Amino acid sequence: MKKISIAIDGHSSTGKSTLARQLAKSLGYVYIDSGAMYRAVALFALENGLIGETLDEAGLLEHLQALELGFEVNPKTGRSEIHLNGENVEQQIRSIAVSRFVSEVAALPEVREKLVKLQQEMGAEKGVVMDGRDIGTVVLPEAELKLFMTAAPEKRAARRYKELLDRGESVTYQEVLRNVRHRDYLDSNREVSPLKQAADAIRLDNSDMGLKEQYERVRSFADRILNAKK
Ligand code: CDP
Repeated sequence: MKKISIAIDGHSSTGKSTLARQLAKSLGYVYIDSGAMYRAVALFALENGLIGETLDEAGLLEHLQALELGFEVNPKTGRSEIHLNGENVEQQIRSIAVSRFVSEVAALPEVREKLVKLQQEMGAEKGVVMDGRDIGTVVLPEAELKLFMTAAPEKRAARRYKELLDRGESVTYQEVLRNVRHRDYLDSNREVSPLKQAADAIRLDNSDMGLKEQYERVRSFADRILNAKK
């Protein structure tokens, strides 16, 4: 059967990666979490003293070209996980400390140029599900199925708050809600490839939709495209 590319964009904490993983697993496709790559660059800045009160942009750009980023399957979990300079940083990149600065890091044109190029190489062959902010608009504009996911900010913050608590982080719901809103704002208003719905993307508001219903609905979109390609 022919393969397609699936691009999933949307607001922060809308469950893009959960849906993308479900689709990739059921279709036997590769999953690429583009946000993990931006988070890894932000983690690098954090761990190397380039983030204090503000982000040291010039300092980060000095190191950018030498940064090695890629995904490797973790044999324990079977999941593809992000590696930064040879080290698995999948857990560290999810902290609220990284979330606080990631959208500023992601707004730097040089960072986007490097990561978009890598993402396009990873997505060059069909049979990929990639999630992020600019996948349907910039990274994989030829994707056959494009989704734009959103939900009420309070619902998204509640989901992310629970995730962070489960990981043992000490955060408040209000702090997570502020972060979700702040990232929505920065992601949607930056100059280079801002978050916006692609003209040919299907909008999915999952404020009141369960994971199963959401998956089945999107899988049926994919099946329709795949059947037409046979
Ligand atoms: O927290 P959430 O899972 O929603 O975000 P993420 O997918 O891990 O992405 C973290 C941040 O990286 C976003 O808030 C964006 O600032 C940035 N990003 C981006 O600019 N472009 C992408 N294709 C993916 C992420």
